[in-house]
Amino acid sequence: MKQPVRKAILPVGGLGTRFLPATKAMPKEMLPVVDKPLIQYAVEEARAAGIEDIIFVTGRGKTAIEDHFDHSYELESTLAARGKTETLEELRSVLPEEGQFSYTRQQVPLGLGHAVWCARNLVGDEPFAVMLADDLVHAPTPCLKQMVEAYDEVGGNLVAVMDVPRAHTNRYGILDPGAERGRLVAIQGLVEKPAPEKAPSTLSIIGRYILQPAVFRHLSDRAPGAGGEIQLTDAMAKMIGKMPFHGYRFSGVRYDCGDKVGFLAANIALSLDRADLRDGIKSFIRSLDLNT
Ligand code: G1P
Repeated sequence: MKQPVRKAILPVGGLGTRFLPATKAMPKEMLPVVDKPLIQYAVEEARAAGIEDIIFVTGRGKTAIEDHFDHSYELESTLAARGKTETLEELRSVLPEEGQFSYTRQQVPLGLGHAVWCARNLVGDEPFAVMLADDLVHAPTPCLKQMVEAYDEVGGNLVAVMDVPRAHTNRYGILDPGAERGRLVAIQGLVEKPAPEKAPSTLSIIGRYILQPAVFRHLSDRAPGAGGEIQLTDAMAKMIGKMPFHGYRFSGVRYDCGDKVGFLAANIALSLDRADLRDGIKSFIRSLDLNT
């Protein structure tokens, strides 16, 4: 029996410069896709995968995230007074049980590996998930749940992967893939953001990981990698060969919500999936002259 994955780290310290001015006074993780902030999608996915504890690695200017997962008494009493019980229930269902969410600050932006390392004491000596809220995965079975099921079988480390155009390998952690079995791909090597001509494949890591706590030891080296940042990919690469390590070709569509086109695409796709919005959005799209 594998040690269960009970905790997830959600790094939310990034500045969100690509979405300025929207993100000047608001964390990028609070940007809404349809009517829910990005961070709530990640939290709901974590819960669906059986995660009990969520650790947010935050930074300055991110208090809106903490407020989002707390009571808002004025709002709640107004909704109650107006008889809006359904909305009230929905808001309350998002709240964690007291003590389930923890917040720690990444005081200096030294990279994703450093952000994950900042949560080491809160994770302790057990396997954990890492979820990047920018990567929104729309899937009938939530992506992390699919991964937890695969992890129960193979253990070790698991990263969600998908093929990307070769020209984009310099945006991702890329696999040197070994044997494939179903959705699982054995990993022989990992390289962070290689140039297209140097990439060992086009199989890219997207922001869902299940990792063993040994990764914290490697992150402690604080060795700078691509872009001068402490890279999670480099620390993960040091575990290859020492324990099972697989890529998992998840089922579902991933939207890169850290990118404007990806973010807008997610809004269109998810609204088309909503019974209350589908017809309105469809008729608006039909009315567009797409030939201009
Ligand atoms: C990070 C990781 C990269 C991964 C990507 C997924 O990069 O460093 O390995 O492929 O997330 O979104 P970032 O997007 O933070 O530059």
